Amino acid sequence: MAFQVLRFVHCIICICLLPTWVPTSAERSFSIDYNGDCFLKDGEPFRYVSGSIHYSRVPQPYWKDRLMKMYMAGLNTIQTYVPWNFHEKSPGIYNFTGDHSLSSFLQLAGDVGLLVILRPGPYICAEWDMGGLPHWLLKNSSIALRTSDEGYMMAVQRWMGVLLPVVKPFLYQNGGPIITVQVENEYGSYFACDHSYMRSLVQLFRLHLGPDVVLFTTDGAGASYLKCGTIQGAYATVDFGPGVNVSSAFAVQRSVEPHGPRVNSEYYTGWLDHWGVSHSTIPKGVVAQGLDQILDLGANVNMYMFEGGTNFGYWNGANQPFSPQPTSYDYDAPLSEAGDPTDKYHLLRSTIGKYLKLPQGPILPATPKFAYGYVILKTKVSLLDALDVLSPYYRHSPFPLTFEQMNQGHGFLLYSTRFPHAYPNGTLLTSPFDGIHDRAYVMVNGVTQGILERYSSGTLKVSGPLDTRLDLLVENMGRINYGNHLNDFKGLTSNLTLGMNVIKNWTMYILDLDSAVASGLIGLEKHITTFRATFSPTFYFGSFTIPEEIPYLPMDSFLKFTGWTKGQVWLNGFNLGRYWPVKGPQETLFVPASLLATKVANNITLLELEGAKCSTIMKQGTDCSVELVDRPILNGPV
Ligand SMILES: *[C@@H]1O[C@H](CO)[C@@H](O)[C@H](O)[C@H]1NC(C)=O
Ligand SMILES: *[C@@H]1O[C@H](CO)[C@@H](O)[C@H](O)[C@H]1NC(C)=O
Ligand SMILES: *[C@@H]1O[C@H](CO)[C@@H](O)[C@H](O)[C@H]1NC(C)=O
Ligand SMILES: *[C@@H]1O[C@H](CO)[C@@H](O)[C@H](O)[C@H]1NC(C)=O
Ligand SMILES: *[C@@H]1O[C@H](CO)[C@@H](O)[C@H](O)[C@H]1NC(C)=O
Ligand SMILES: *[C@@H]1O[C@H](CO)[C@@H](O)[C@H](O)[C@H]1NC(C)=O
Ligand SMILES: *[C@@H]1O[C@H](CO)[C@@H](O)[C@H](O)[C@H]1NC(C)=O
Repeated sequence: MAFQVLRFVHCIICICLLPTWVPTSAERSFSIDYNGDCFLKDGEPFRYVSGSIHYSRVPQPYWKDRLMKMYMAGLNTIQTYVPWNFHEKSPGIYNFTGDHSLSSFLQLAGDVGLLVILRPGPYICAEWDMGGLPHWLLKNSSIALRTSDEGYMMAVQRWMGVLLPVVKPFLYQNGGPIITVQVENEYGSYFACDHSYMRSLVQLFRLHLGPDVVLFTTDGAGASYLKCGTIQGAYATVDFGPGVNVSSAFAVQRSVEPHGPRVNSEYYTGWLDHWGVSHSTIPKGVVAQGLDQILDLGANVNMYMFEGGTNFGYWNGANQPFSPQPTSYDYDAPLSEAGDPTDKYHLLRSTIGKYLKLPQGPILPATPKFAYGYVILKTKVSLLDALDVLSPYYRHSPFPLTFEQMNQGHGFLLYSTRFPHAYPNGTLLTSPFDGIHDRAYVMVNGVTQGILERYSSGTLKVSGPLDTRLDLLVENMGRINYGNHLNDFKGLTSNLTLGMNVIKNWTMYILDLDSAVASGLIGLEKHITTFRATFSPTFYFGSFTIPEEIPYLPMDSFLKFTGWTKGQVWLNGFNLGRYWPVKGPQETLFVPASLLATKVANNITLLELEGAKCSTIMKQGTDCSVELVDRPILNGPV
């Protein structure tokens, strides 16, 4: 025990024994002690052991549960990003209520007994659509993101002018839980290296948050990253995962911050996934060993992620070369996607216990799960047949317009045209400039011909007489969130050719599927088809009731898509995300109990894009189904 206590006070004994200034009990302060190489909280040496959780990836009714579990793990601090595009979906229109209530989340964290490290961006990476930047910034296609570009900075200033006043009362100095605030994110990994941009951000943060808050930057633990990522007025920290030589990594931080606390702002407990790539994991022992080394040095650490959560809706990002992330953001973190303590949780807790006093009391158990079983999905409506219900707006244009030009952020946009003359069998439909962003379901007279994809030089053979209808349902699979190509326009980003001709005269249909589904798809009944000889993207509906006689329901569950190919799924109007079991590795989608109803039927809406096993059986009345199971499958075959 004595040994452990000694290790705990490592940073403290050497240096911070005599704080030069002792606050009165009423004063709250949080600062950096450059002489003592540590943080000072209320004038006392302080070291944080933190974990990342993104409120935008956890349903609000579960925030408290996850925060309590993080507290019980021995953490004294949490870290969260603020995704700009989650709060400002259209320019000047803000949402800070419900799942978007940042202030409730901060309040809750403080109430639970946790301090907060806030990372408000404006860019956050986070495997989140466009790294948190709003798609509407791309309305000006020449905008230079993450630089001093005038248009970009005007939008940033307006956003920070709304966000930072929400944050300010929650600063530690003002009685709240926020101890430090990060400026930008891993800016040293971005090509622009615009120091005046970073300087303006520091000024902007100071303007709104005052002179006392500790600002910091985070970059990879390599000298080249720190060159462009650090800025005067913000304390430089590094990030690195298990398996890295901890003392060498901190030596890199020391090269720019010779004094002050050692900080790893992102210590990776696991890793992200991509569709079509095996599920990533990091063994718990490896994570615990690295954590032990970091804590043994007296350093501060944030574990990224401690609770990963879910990319609901269309919020996943993508990496380059284009490779989108799946719906689950489980991350192989100590708390699972569904918030359950794993073996890794218990091991990391005991590692933390060597250095910090663990809180008393029982650890919250896993939330119970329930296998509600099969749900028959019956009614079918082809998307093309229901444009009057699904599309609030269309526009003609000689050449294709992007999602951004059409003011549509996410999901799907339909591009429609007609053959200007007859095309013989075998005419090639091509996108010579790789302009399919990201996946197009191609239909001729309503019959699927195949798929054109980004980065594939694929072509399709089509044919038909004059005036034949050609439709491309183009899916935005998530905008690039990291690297030099954040300006990731969606839709048809260049002309298509048919045979030798550039296709002209398009009609673009905005598809507001979320609103249409949430409002019950009124008017869709008249389009219901019980029989179709060929498949095109189709909605399926089904409902299930939760048995009243079983106590403690509703419980969390997972939707399993055996026999389905690819699509989007909604539960009671809430967009649960993308499913793509044939691509893997994710085979089930998390269904939080908070979305389930017990008094009325629960409604499942599926948009299947490529065809399900049941839909290819050309027999009238064939049933399709999904299954609600009680455990996730995130590591399926790819
Ligand atoms: C804000 O988001 C919540 C969901 O978190 C939603 O219920 C609400 O309608 C949204 N408010 C506005 C004004 O869009
Ligand atoms: C678009 O951005 C560019 C680059 O900053 C700028 O020169 C131009 O004036 C902007 N256009 C509009 C219409 O704002
Ligand atoms: C880590 O790097 C330091 C030099 O920074 C070196 O002295 C030490 O041996 C290395 N540790 C391991 C385990 O490789
Ligand atoms: C085009 O292909 C269809 C079906 O494969 C065939 O029936 C038709 O005869 C072909 N037309 C020509 C002009 O080759
Ligand atoms: C499509 O082609 C036309 C005519 O060549 C050209 O003016 C237009 O810029 C092209 N559009 C795109 C998005 O490349
Ligand atoms: C363009 O398409 C619209 C709608 O399909 C049609 O009414 C119009 O005649 C077409 N124009 C040309 C020049 O083909
Ligand atoms: C499901 O749909 C039915 C029929 O439209 C409706 O009565 C019910 O309230 C819906 N359930 C939920 C939870 O919204």
